[in-house]
Amino acid sequence: MRISVIGCGYLGAVHAASMAKLGHEVVGIDVDETKIELLAAGRPPFFEPGLPELLTEAGATGRLRFSTDAGEAAGAKVHFIAVGTPQKPGSYAADLTYVDAAVDGLLPHLRPGDLVVGKSTVPVGTAARLAERIEAAGARLAWNPEFLREGFAIMDTLTPDRFVYGVTDGDETAAPLLDEVYAEALSAGTPRIVTDLATAELVKVAANAFLATKISFINAMAEVAEVTGADVTQLADAIGHDARIGRRFLNSGLGFGGGCLPKDIRGFMARAEELGVDQALKFLSDVDSINLRRRARMVDLAVEVLDGNVEGKRIAVLGLAFKPDSDDVRESPALDVAARLSELGADVVATDPEAIETSRKKHPELVYVQDTEEALRGADAVVVLTEWKQYRQLDPSHVKTLVSGAHVLDGRNCLDREAWRAAGWHYRALGRP
Ligand code: UDX
Repeated sequence: MRISVIGCGYLGAVHAASMAKLGHEVVGIDVDETKIELLAAGRPPFFEPGLPELLTEAGATGRLRFSTDAGEAAGAKVHFIAVGTPQKPGSYAADLTYVDAAVDGLLPHLRPGDLVVGKSTVPVGTAARLAERIEAAGARLAWNPEFLREGFAIMDTLTPDRFVYGVTDGDETAAPLLDEVYAEALSAGTPRIVTDLATAELVKVAANAFLATKISFINAMAEVAEVTGADVTQLADAIGHDARIGRRFLNSGLGFGGGCLPKDIRGFMARAEELGVDQALKFLSDVDSINLRRRARMVDLAVEVLDGNVEGKRIAVLGLAFKPDSDDVRESPALDVAARLSELGADVVATDPEAIETSRKKHPELVYVQDTEEALRGADAVVVLTEWKQYRQLDPSHVKTLVSGAHVLDGRNCLDREAWRAAGWHYRALGRP
């Protein structure tokens, strides 16, 4: 099938390459020339395991092209909209500028019978508004939210947990067309839910609100554990054995960040207020606050172990990305803590396997080093803020030979506490004695 993908950021670039992998003929379109050049050369402008290989492989088949010309969408049967919906500056609401621009750019090239498919995360009601304009051009609109996680983006696109198709009232053709696009995963038994536009839009924000709530729930338990001497990691293991609760997404620590969860819960609250149901989502404001409080607690813990003052103390920061296997520092709790420690006068030396360049753009004042050992050398305290495998596997006895002070702060509850203690470290973590 001929497919166009409008917007080649994280979502769009992965979607375009994955659709080509499935055998479709795909053009990825974006207004950013540099991005298009890099993608066409098989070099994504962000870190995602497997994507360079997939771009090269799909490019070699001739089924994947990238362009800055919206006119290249003409002739495709299905047009995916995969542009960003960031948080508006100074507001909780989502900025729909890029979604509207994508539709404006596409309208002159639509043919009767084409299907426009929204994948971006949007406030409920957006699709109904866009549908009117698209139908006036003789085409149709469906909403097909995407649930991909960074670091697992290709797998999540090719073999998702489920497909959700929001279709307009009485449209009998959108679902079969999407079934054709996703035939491979559907034949493997992937569940598919066909619903209305509003439900499809809500499914996405509801899923992210639930995940954020789960993380903040366990981090709220960590706050209680901290004043009672309880251990939140054991608590999570114990409640996680209840199949109704489940252990996944119950890892306590610095909390959630990234380009999705924080802005999506805020956008959801803003939309609920417009709809007059703000009471229904009031709890998300607590979810957000609990999440942000963890960062302050981490900074306080560093001050505490360094005898009440971090000024002039050398702190090795291991990890800057919002999670491992990513170079993304949008709303990153790790980068935020590093910057706050530096603001307090600490001599921060930060490292990350992938996120140094992205961090430097946001916080040029910090000192970054590529090499973990260099970051550790002479440190008064070691702070682990992103649970990269290479940090989880550090040998505490060896690290001890590099530092000046044997204080380790585990911001992600990812180190083997007993092993570090046995090697002579003073180990502290969030939510654990
Ligand atoms: C998320 C959703 O998972 C995905 O379905 C949606 O499409 C986009 O948003 P992503 O932002 O890639 O994906 O990251 P995710 O793996 O969900 O992690 C989000 C944040 O929560 C990270 O900062 C992570 O460190 C944190 N987290 C996750 C925890 O603090 N504890 C956990 O147990 C799990």
